[in-house]
Amino acid sequence: MAETAAGAPAKARGTGSVQAHGNYVGGEWVPAASGRTFENRNPADSSDLIGTFADSGPEDVERAVTAAREAFPRWRAVPAPKRGEILYRAAEILVRRKEEFSRDMTREMGKVLAETRGDVQEAIDMTYYMAGEGRRQFGQTTPSEMQNKFQMSVRQPVGVCGLITPWNFPMAIPSWKAMPALVLGNTVVIKPATDTPLSVVNLVRALEEAGLPGGVVNMVTGGGGAVGSPLMRHPDVGVVSFTGSTGVGRMVSEACAPAFKHCHLEMGGKNVIMVMEDANLELAVDGAVWGGFGTTGQRCTAASRVVVHEKVSRDFTERFVARARALRVGDGLDPAVEMGPCVNEAQLKTVESYVAIGRGEGAKLLAGGSRLGGEHARGYFHEPTIFGDCSPDMRVAREEIFGPVVSVIPVPSLEEAITVGNSVEYGLSASIYTQDINKAFVAMRDMYTGIFYVNAPTIGAETHLPFGGTKNTGNGHREACVQALEVFSEWKSIYIDYSGTLQRAQIDT
Ligand code: UN1
Repeated sequence: MAETAAGAPAKARGTGSVQAHGNYVGGEWVPAASGRTFENRNPADSSDLIGTFADSGPEDVERAVTAAREAFPRWRAVPAPKRGEILYRAAEILVRRKEEFSRDMTREMGKVLAETRGDVQEAIDMTYYMAGEGRRQFGQTTPSEMQNKFQMSVRQPVGVCGLITPWNFPMAIPSWKAMPALVLGNTVVIKPATDTPLSVVNLVRALEEAGLPGGVVNMVTGGGGAVGSPLMRHPDVGVVSFTGSTGVGRMVSEACAPAFKHCHLEMGGKNVIMVMEDANLELAVDGAVWGGFGTTGQRCTAASRVVVHEKVSRDFTERFVARARALRVGDGLDPAVEMGPCVNEAQLKTVESYVAIGRGEGAKLLAGGSRLGGEHARGYFHEPTIFGDCSPDMRVAREEIFGPVVSVIPVPSLEEAITVGNSVEYGLSASIYTQDINKAFVAMRDMYTGIFYVNAPTIGAETHLPFGGTKNTGNGHREACVQALEVFSEWKSIYIDYSGTLQRAQIDT
């Protein structure tokens, strides 16, 4: 492992010394070309400085893309099962260091330890899954129209992949992108979210320790304009995979269009739980609490709307409000805490602005509604918040908030629940609570989303089914499962004529 001043050993919280983390370029940990750094602070306590990270710019992107481009021909030539073996080793390192990486993640991102353990576990699952693809990456063979002719299709890597990753799943989502790219023989440059670079440093260190050759994975930390933008525009980058807001996703799409780059986008959501009159209400309340306030509502898949049948709306809402009010909010490292802070001040301000919008448009504030002060004043904490009696056209019921705010919308029927459910610009995840199998099948057929749950909340996707959404959530691609391979490879169809004569397709058949 190449160490420089940019990769000094970690110091525990409160010892007074702060670790400086560099970029990872060509197998070396290096500072930003400018020498500038930025701070990473704990959202539960902004006086807790976790470390400093390279505040990089276009020059650093250039170096990383060059390293990735130079490493590509060698990595592509490594047999895929051998590439998979390195990923198996990386997964084992993640297993071994799971607790440490989970604690680092809670400290930099805020979500509770049970959830950061889940995040690291999701990275482990994805790494094992994609390691297995080292021995699959199946293509097709199919009979020819003609005699003495063989044909098949094979996947080929694209080259350098630019991965722009979010803060809400700081290790899982980078693994969703990096592992399929790597097992296919691509090289990558990762730009982590500025709120959560440590988790990507940890992931990259696992890959380094597992024996990934220098230049195959590179990481450049810094802002969207200074790093993300030159990365996605770089002519040597053939694939861009982005997870984040729909607004930024549109910019990524436009930046990729002129060069026809592969562009994979995973963006916003306004996911709905539909609670029918025959639902097990206690189960539905459990789902609404976990789906709405898990990860402080900061999941693309968060259940930020509950559409509930009028017959049970009052009963459901009363129980839901009581549970939300009782949630223990605080530092995610405290095992008694159930909901952590918002990731930063700006995110908290967005939540506050939506609470004001909801009040202004006449939604009934039933729980929460305020930033938490007192012992919580040093962090970005907001109360779990519920708006009741919302109409589907209200902004709080249509727009992604990405915080602990849930809008409850009463409806008279399943048909209306589906209409309301489908009425937003996003199509990531939806769910229904019902004991009636007919209702469940109608909803799973008619909800136009990429993910659907029955008697479970809108969150909780596993790594071996495709992940992604319709409409303004995505651009037709999927992460996870074998579908992820499509983003990071190109098909090659190969025809082998062993007849010794000229055989003309469509003519000599
Ligand atoms: C996200 O919301 O950004 O299905 C990802 C889930 C998680 C992944 C969420 N496994 O909720």
